Amino acid sequence: MIGHIKYFVGNWKMFGIPRSIKIIDRINSFFNKDKKNNKSYKIAIAPPHTLIQDFSNKYKNKKIIISAQNCYHKDSFGAHTGQISPFMIKNIGIKFIIIGHSENRASGETDKIIQEKIQFTLKNNFKVFLCIGENSTEKRKKKTFTVLKNQLKSALNKRYNFNNIIIAYEPVWSIGTGKILSPNELKKIIIFLKKFIKNHFKKKTHIKILYGGSVDKKSIYKFKSIKELDGFLIGSASKSSKNFIDIIKNFYK
Ligand code: PGA
Repeated sequence: MIGHIKYFVGNWKMFGIPRSIKIIDRINSFFNKDKKNNKSYKIAIAPPHTLIQDFSNKYKNKKIIISAQNCYHKDSFGAHTGQISPFMIKNIGIKFIIIGHSENRASGETDKIIQEKIQFTLKNNFKVFLCIGENSTEKRKKKTFTVLKNQLKSALNKRYNFNNIIIAYEPVWSIGTGKILSPNELKKIIIFLKKFIKNHFKKKTHIKILYGGSVDKKSIYKFKSIKELDGFLIGSASKSSKNFIDIIKNFYK
């Protein structure tokens, strides 16, 4: 909706080493200079787990949000080699987390696991970016709406505080492929999702819905007219400060 704060979220995936903080530094100085628009949007960057503590300390009093990319689905501590719990992430000062990314779903995260992750991260007071999206077969078979409904129904519960949930609609076939759905199609899906959440979970809150999948400085123009959209989850293009800044610049141009 017009007037609502937009989110530009960078998902670095498996990218970044300590000196990559420079990327965030440059984005931060752009943000500080962007007096004309910077009250209308928030920036979040999700670096890998190796960097979030250091980066969140450096960005503690700044406007850029440092987010985690994923976490384990139960227990605060336990015999789960290689895993990190929301409790541990919360304790290093992180308040945002991405859950249910299609790359994680593809490597074995089931709806049940995602459901547990949402429950557990909300319990630990996180704000969650919940990723949903159909794959190319589902799209071809015209199952998009059914898939999205099922993913939402299984992940969420009407008892949750929906102010802490941000949905990222990411068609799997669009991630990293340069393929993008038409603004008209996207608008329809966003409106459908907002209505469905309102009715199914009986929520009056304005739920934020972001779009993700091949968002870059060129494709961003396509989305400018969709006022129902609350922002973007950006993969590839978020690894370069210039690309990320250009996305924001072009969006507000
Ligand atoms: P992409 O990735 O922007 O590289 O398509 C988006 C995402 O996976 O969140």
